[in-house]
Amino acid sequence: MTDAPPSTLFADQSAYAEAVQLALDAAAAYYGDGTSTLDDDAYDRLVRGIQAYEAEHPDEVLPSSPTGKVAGGAVVGDVPHTVPMLSLDNVFSAEKLVDWAASLERRLGRPVTRWSVEPKLDGLAIAARYRGGRLVQLVTRGDGTKGEDVSHAIGTIVGLPARLAEPVTVELRGEVMMTVSQFEDACVKRRAHDGTTFANPRSAAAGTLRAQDRSYVCELTFFGYGALPAPDDISEQAARLRVLPHSEVMAWVAGQSVQTTDATPVTGIVAETLEQVQERVEQIATLRPKLPFGIDGIVIKCDLAADQAQAGFSSRAPRWAIAYKLPATEKITKLLGVEWNVGRSGIIAPRAVLEPVDLEGSKITYATLHNVADITRRGLMLGDSVVVYKAGDVIPRVEAPVVHLRTGDERPIPIPRVCPLCGDEIDASQERWRCVRGRACRVIASIGYAAGRDQLDIEGLAENRIRQMLDAGLIADFADLFFLTREQVLGLERMGETSTDNLLAAIERAKAQPLSRVFCALGVRGTGRSMSRRIARHFGSMDAIRAADAEAIEAVEGLGPKKAPGVVAELVELTGLIDKLIRAGVNMTQPGWTPPAAPDTDAKADTDTNAGPEPGDASELPLAGMSVVVTGSMSGALEALTRNQMNELIERAGGKSSSSVSKKTSLLVAGENAGSKRAKAETLGVRIVGPEEFAGLVGELL
Ligand code: IVH
Repeated sequence: MTDAPPSTLFADQSAYAEAVQLALDAAAAYYGDGTSTLDDDAYDRLVRGIQAYEAEHPDEVLPSSPTGKVAGGAVVGDVPHTVPMLSLDNVFSAEKLVDWAASLERRLGRPVTRWSVEPKLDGLAIAARYRGGRLVQLVTRGDGTKGEDVSHAIGTIVGLPARLAEPVTVELRGEVMMTVSQFEDACVKRRAHDGTTFANPRSAAAGTLRAQDRSYVCELTFFGYGALPAPDDISEQAARLRVLPHSEVMAWVAGQSVQTTDATPVTGIVAETLEQVQERVEQIATLRPKLPFGIDGIVIKCDLAADQAQAGFSSRAPRWAIAYKLPATEKITKLLGVEWNVGRSGIIAPRAVLEPVDLEGSKITYATLHNVADITRRGLMLGDSVVVYKAGDVIPRVEAPVVHLRTGDERPIPIPRVCPLCGDEIDASQERWRCVRGRACRVIASIGYAAGRDQLDIEGLAENRIRQMLDAGLIADFADLFFLTREQVLGLERMGETSTDNLLAAIERAKAQPLSRVFCALGVRGTGRSMSRRIARHFGSMDAIRAADAEAIEAVEGLGPKKAPGVVAELVELTGLIDKLIRAGVNMTQPGWTPPAAPDTDAKADTDTNAGPEPGDASELPLAGMSVVVTGSMSGALEALTRNQMNELIERAGGKSSSSVSKKTSLLVAGENAGSKRAKAETLGVRIVGPEEFAGLVGELL
């Protein structure tokens, strides 16, 4: 690693602005919750690059630069704000939110009865000045009292119209950011232009907002969160805006054709109690991974103008609002290597090997890289500092390299020319590369998976045994196992009478496995253990699953329009295998399945109704209607159960198994070493039981 930053850093003002944003975010995370996004060395390199640029361009120094070198008369950030653009104080937990609200209510001398709850948009604050309904100036936050004129960006920001619906004079405040798709487009444009990319949507937005001399234009998005009449505006309109509740101001803003979060699934709401506030916080946190733009928390404000006016401001922030910060979903770490794995269906998938990094409560060592096109699109190199993203239950993924942190030691990622597993050719006609042998390439792994403990549970079928059978031509897929004769198995090397009989008995027992496990054994992409249980409970029989078209498959919770057509297509591919299983006498129904209640009856047409071991009254089952989460290691009677078997048990007992704790969770089964899920359940007041108590609850269903 060289000491001085490479001279290619920060080609222009926008690249400099991006680097400043990355450094500011790293410092804010470090001083906020102590989880820096950058290691010390990377941070120092970034700041050295910033210093080098500032030395050459003293007139472009940003007021917010971490070098603190802004000169007295810096030309940027010279537009005074009519009302200071302040920051928000933060809380990181439900308890701290309660403490903050209590101190605010003490200050007001009365309870707050209307709270406005909205997402905290992860972009950059901007003031959009409208005169007579026309957008005349855009000013960044700058140092809060003075900002930079970025009016050149007018016309490139979705959600910020050139004209309002009414000819009013007003300053709209809100966040400028890049949506996921705008970020993708921007990365493609920049790659085509100079072969590099943006680190993340926030720094991309920061750079883009200042870019004046780029030969390509990147689109931005605006979401408004406030409206200010000029302090000297004595019009009726201005007077009205000053006294309206915040929620009504926002409705007025939306009525002016300006985008607000009203147009999104995380629309602002008004809550009357802190419990309702907390409920909305949970909802927004759950929705976060699926949003088409980044949020980093939830902003809670007094909705009533009178409450806001009385609470006032501290030097940094309003006392009437607070940011409830959500855990970071991104970290920067090193890309150490790329592994190429061949999936059960022959798909060749690259996986990033990372310098381990803590994110969302877990240590991340691997992250998905999707496919080769994705690697090229992002311009990744070995040794790159990369942004890794993980939120909720999503698989961690590598977003982009941080080009500003390159040292010159990065190397291209070797791309395989032949299938890394069997050496045959690669079918590269689609974005997802595939071994030309398809499923046959992974036949050993596919059969091993089908025989696994959570699928058909055929004990004694180790990988070497499967290989022997394949080599001897006894089997070609896992359905052939059911046609093996005693003589054939006995004829294999190192196969005695007892082990032969044991293996054949295990295969015989496998015929009676529930449909959920038989379906899971097929290895259809996107249908792991819990999804297979959902599918089996939804349809009840293999016949019904095979008869379903994509629309019918979509009705299964968690299988949206993106995944459903793939499931249908794979089932068609698997026709021969499924028919063979049927001929072998393998069970093709879900025990205890009853057809879903007709929509016009009172019974809830919920999948839970089909979860019981006996047809009929599922409501009498011990976990009927309960949503149950398991965490930590099980002990006692539950010790030998895999997580899948625990989930099956919950569903047999009438409950619904889930992997994350929320307000809707009815019960948490917490074993040894239970971590963040237990803490969250405690905060939410969810009932917590240990493995023994749970075993008692489910009784004989165990
Ligand atoms: S209200 C006086 N509402 O968060 C400050 N800010 O950390 C009032 N932000 O600079 C700001 N979403 O850029 C408000 N719904 C929202 C917000 C929001 C994001 C940003 C804003 C502010 C920063 C403070």
